[in-house]
Amino acid sequence: KSLDGAVLFIFGATGDLAKRKLFPAIYSLYKEGKLSENFAVIGLARRPKTKEQFRDNLHASINEFSRYDQKDTERWNQFVEHFEYMSLDTQNPEGFKDLNVLTQSLEEKFSLNGNRLFYLALAPELFGGVAQNLRVGGLLESGGWHRLVIEKPFGYDLKSAEELNKQIRGVFEEEEIYRIDHYLGKEMVQNIEVIRFANAFFEPLWNNKHIANVQVTLSETVGVEERGGYYDHSGALRDMVQNHALQIVSMIAMEAPSRLEAEDIRDEKVKVLRSIRPFADDQDLRNHVIRGQYKAGSHGGKDMPAYRDEPNVNPESVTETFFAAKLHVDNFRWAGVPFYVRTGKRMPAKSTEVVVEFKNVPDHVYLAKNNNLRPNLLVIRVNPEEGIYIKINAKKPDSERSIVPVAMDFCQSCQVGINTPEAYERLLFDALCGESTYFTRWDEVATAWSIIDQIANSWSKDASDLKFYPAGTWGPEESHELLARDGFHWWPVN
Ligand code: BG6
Repeated sequence: KSLDGAVLFIFGATGDLAKRKLFPAIYSLYKEGKLSENFAVIGLARRPKTKEQFRDNLHASINEFSRYDQKDTERWNQFVEHFEYMSLDTQNPEGFKDLNVLTQSLEEKFSLNGNRLFYLALAPELFGGVAQNLRVGGLLESGGWHRLVIEKPFGYDLKSAEELNKQIRGVFEEEEIYRIDHYLGKEMVQNIEVIRFANAFFEPLWNNKHIANVQVTLSETVGVEERGGYYDHSGALRDMVQNHALQIVSMIAMEAPSRLEAEDIRDEKVKVLRSIRPFADDQDLRNHVIRGQYKAGSHGGKDMPAYRDEPNVNPESVTETFFAAKLHVDNFRWAGVPFYVRTGKRMPAKSTEVVVEFKNVPDHVYLAKNNNLRPNLLVIRVNPEEGIYIKINAKKPDSERSIVPVAMDFCQSCQVGINTPEAYERLLFDALCGESTYFTRWDEVATAWSIIDQIANSWSKDASDLKFYPAGTWGPEESHELLARDGFHWWPVN
């Protein structure tokens, strides 16, 4: 990958994402020499702020959230020289003309050739207007490339996503649009492809003859924090399943791409999404999709409020903070293999992991000796620990023929010296280099929405299936029953 200089426009520069993720990511890229001195960043938000104030905020954000400390004042002063701030009303085209003037002056100052990356860390209602105004303001007329990076949520349902896409596509080509799903920037999510396709251990077994089920868990200990206003309209289904969970399922289930190129990989992923079986009717859906909401509880000895008592949440809200489902990928490879997916807030542990449970070998010989074989497991740990864990059966040492499960645990993140880049760091750099593999293409987004829409529509008719679970637990009992009915159980997370 190579980068030949660009201006980065951060819309929403006073927001949380910029503070926690984007600025620290830019700083890491700079520290690692990936940006060299060939870049400028323009922070944009409505709030008036001087350049100095903005640079002070930048300092504070990097101090708090960067994985690198910055004690070297000279280097810092050099870095911060690349940053400007402009107060901008995104509805007002005149402001964009001023922005173009500022941009040109920075391009001259840093000898840049007109490459421009527009990062919209904004509410999606503003995406279309910003895209239009970028054109009106002349910002798309420079000599280099123009790319638009947009944050989720990309729409509220298929219809609104289509509308949003139409507005953006009126200005940018699909190849110029980088839709962020930050889970795709995570080291171990990217590793799924390598684990699957580069290992003779796994590749031949990766199908319904050998795999009993797949479990995807995205659990969080946090509640909705200060995001109640957003979350109450979104819920776990739109916040985590439409994007992150379905992306992981598609990486686990996809066929080998013909080449390791963005379009080939994304072609295979979208085929998986298209193969996810729709539910036959509302009853079928309710049998296989569980929703829950946390009530008051405790975690680590601390009392936690109920979701309905969180700030900016409707006290009678029926929004789900927990989701679990059994999905089927209806193709030759996966016929009959359940994919269980769960995500929730206020769970006992923060964990993102995939468990692949293999079918047992014929076990009559061992059963005859009173041995119950445990299934082989492959666990791909994404977060907080990064690594691979494999469970196999072995003879219990010093026993006649007792069998015990033993584990091989490769903890990548525990290895000294490994300091994996944050998802945003990779994704920002990829977008700057024009590498779009780990961004979601429109057809992926649209297909994911059509899966989600069926669930959301059914739920909106009647919320009597919403179950309440105490904060600090693994969600409603029904989530466990979902697997128990098939003779399985959720494997405990790390
Ligand atoms: C975001 C969701 O996309 O992902 C949040 O909007 C969630 O609700 C977050 O907390 C989880 O991300 P991570 O990287 O901490 O697992």
